[in-house]
Amino acid sequence: MKHATNRVRGTLAMALLAATLVAVGSDAKPATPASEKPIPAIALKNGHTALMVEGAPFLMLGVQANNSSNYPAMLPMVWPAVKKLGANTLEIPVAWEQIEPTEGHFDFSWVDTLVQQARQHDTRLVLLWFATWKNTAPSYAPAWVKLDNKRFPRMMTADGKYHYAMSPFAKTTLEADKKAFSALMAHLKAIDPARTVLMVQVENEVGTYRLARDHSPAAEAQFNGPVPEKLVVGLHKQPGTWKEVFGKDADEFFHAWAIASYVEQVAEAGKAQYPLPMYVNAALRDPLKDQDPATYASGGPTWNVLDIYHIAAPSIFTAAPDIYQAPHEVATANLARYTRPDNPLMIVEIGNDPHFARYFYPALGKATLGYAPFGFDFTGYSNFPLGGKTVDEPTMAPFVANFKVLGPMQREWAKLAFETDVWGVAEPDDHAAQTIALGRWSAKVEYRQWEFGMAEWGMTKDLPAGSENPRGGVAIARLGENEYLVVATHARVTFGSADPALADRALIDRVEEGHYVGGKWVFERVWNGDQTDYGLNFTDRPRILRVKMAAY
Ligand code: DGJ
Repeated sequence: MKHATNRVRGTLAMALLAATLVAVGSDAKPATPASEKPIPAIALKNGHTALMVEGAPFLMLGVQANNSSNYPAMLPMVWPAVKKLGANTLEIPVAWEQIEPTEGHFDFSWVDTLVQQARQHDTRLVLLWFATWKNTAPSYAPAWVKLDNKRFPRMMTADGKYHYAMSPFAKTTLEADKKAFSALMAHLKAIDPARTVLMVQVENEVGTYRLARDHSPAAEAQFNGPVPEKLVVGLHKQPGTWKEVFGKDADEFFHAWAIASYVEQVAEAGKAQYPLPMYVNAALRDPLKDQDPATYASGGPTWNVLDIYHIAAPSIFTAAPDIYQAPHEVATANLARYTRPDNPLMIVEIGNDPHFARYFYPALGKATLGYAPFGFDFTGYSNFPLGGKTVDEPTMAPFVANFKVLGPMQREWAKLAFETDVWGVAEPDDHAAQTIALGRWSAKVEYRQWEFGMAEWGMTKDLPAGSENPRGGVAIARLGENEYLVVATHARVTFGSADPALADRALIDRVEEGHYVGGKWVFERVWNGDQTDYGLNFTDRPRILRVKMAAY
């Protein structure tokens, strides 16, 4: 709980946390009138994090609409996709240009329509504040902002030319963004006592491409000055200028600090109106290799600057990775980079090609607060090559299957992830088997198996249809010392133990298949015989098993 402790030290952080965090394990209740629901909040306990919705952990099974689906005329093409997927939450933009088309004149009709329709469709919302930065550019800022470079200046290159992205040092831009965002949050507070809106994303993929940092006069003056004490102390460094303290990383770290500080001020102003949980999303750099910051969104919340973000922006509870690289090694490395005690995993964007569906399972195993494929709506736009080639049944099928199994038990899973151990894996690109250590017991996970028999019998060379594309995944939660909940697809799971003394005497006590209704386990049948003699075999059919291990 390193980060939570750091946060609690600052007075500002203390005030903000008090506004957002739920006191877990105490009798404290948010002071809301009976007609209002408690404000969604981030809860921390024993190094675990939960998104609390109506007082209990909530797993966001989300979907993000296409960027330009943020108009009422598009909603009839959005809700059917939400329903088809079985998502419980829709992530969708609220653009600065649409709420403040003329300076000082606000129009919240989009927000009102959206919230009202979300309630009719029994769907929660995550609003994406597209403002100073959207994929690093000011495209969603109103014309009176993005066309007035004098008042709202761009960054500058080292040789004095303007660069396309807004300067994080322009106080005018910051104040204008803060004012609009505060107005949005005040409006939400007024119209949403039912808490249809769960969270707000502040900006979208901040950072700057092709330039590590701003070189405007204001930026230069600060770059040549001392690193702010808060950062020096937070990172346990010796004082000095940016170059002295950070050497080759100085440009990027300086830019990250500048943008994170800007985002903090926007978020803080919004939370002062209405303290919903707020986060940022990240355009990713390579999780495994060294890279020149000019080749990715420098200054954005890439994994190498997460410490800087958490020190600069305590109003932001996490930086969420936008996962668009499908290779197993890269995708799982990104999940690992963005899962820290101070940065709970939350996947607010992942490609909507079927290859990405299997990463639902390792995400669950890292206690993710949510998982939302990007670009599933029926507005007739496909996100290939980042996502799937088409938005059709076969493309949606594995995502639908995942949500179908987790949907009815999302509250139970979220509670288990908050209170106990969870694990998860996705099928590697080479289909190699994996072993998950579960304490006393372990689970061997194999792919491309038939449901019956052992491959070594050599009775067939056939492999299950479609298994050439990696698609398997397994998530396991602890129910007790010897008992586990298993949710899986396209995988064979064989329980055993790494402890030789136990392994020799290990046996399955009982495997129950069932489902949850209203928080209660509903028993359907016991698996035994052929259904357990060759591991527990999961196909494309969603199944939930409770597995009890024993030794004779
Ligand atoms: C990541 C961005 O955050 C989204 O808004 C969108 O542009 C996708 N990339 C790609 O479609």
